[in-house]
Amino acid sequence: MKTVSKIEDIRKELNKARMDGLRIGFVPTMGFLHEGHLSLVRKCRDENDIVVVSIFVNPAQFGAGEDLDSYPSDIKRDTALLEAAGTNILFLPEREEIYPEGFSTNISVAGVSDGLCGRSRPGHFDGVCTVVTKLLNIVQPERAYFGEKDYQQLQVIKRLARDLNIPSEIIGGSIIREDDGLAMSSRNVYLTPEQRESALSLNRSFKVVQDALKEGVEDVSELRADVEEFINSHEYARIDYIEFVDPEFLRPVRKIEGDFLMALAVYVGKARLIDNNYFEVQK
Ligand code: PAF
Repeated sequence: MKTVSKIEDIRKELNKARMDGLRIGFVPTMGFLHEGHLSLVRKCRDENDIVVVSIFVNPAQFGAGEDLDSYPSDIKRDTALLEAAGTNILFLPEREEIYPEGFSTNISVAGVSDGLCGRSRPGHFDGVCTVVTKLLNIVQPERAYFGEKDYQQLQVIKRLARDLNIPSEIIGGSIIREDDGLAMSSRNVYLTPEQRESALSLNRSFKVVQDALKEGVEDVSELRADVEEFINSHEYARIDYIEFVDPEFLRPVRKIEGDFLMALAVYVGKARLIDNNYFEVQK
């Protein structure tokens, strides 16, 4: 595996590969890798000839008071994991390489960015879209891979790629969970053992919804109230949002009439955790 930090150098490497007719796959990350990232790297390796992974903690997607300065990092460990998972090129740029002096462009996707995390974290998706556009322009992959834990991010990036005619296929990878069901996240490292118990309220709340659906509940405000009560019964959990939306445009649904996505964000101690579940509904 080669580690490259300059845009000019990664372009040279990838131009060579492209001239040899090799298919380039790309997994953008912010590092502190876990099995969720590695599952994307393996999928990328299975579907492409060259696997490029970037690690860049993107300041533009963090709001004031968020964890930019304490975001966990362990480049040595990440490098070993990526090498073992079959990565060919690790792109590890400095901040100035991505945002040089005078950088003043902002990419914003309306609609699908507006609710859920977009409402709670103003500017977050502009930061994501701006850096992802840059990274896709730099790497120019045939396929790029993003985890479904950040379901809204995946939909926003799909919209971005369609709207801007970015010729990379945007592919989602399933949520990878710990044995007890907690969705893997770099931020899980912030949890104390007591807080981790409260963190399980996110994934366990899907069962609360499943049970209510079985009993015939169709009113979303009733479902939300059940989930709220369940999560609030956990000592360290503080709800940011619980939303029931249509899976494509992420518009709120009021009555369950077909498939829907439940997405939630909950603060547990210093960690803001997100999770989601796609519910198939036979009508
Ligand atoms: O999902 C992430 O880790 C980040 O949002 C991404 C896509 C790497 C952009 O910084």
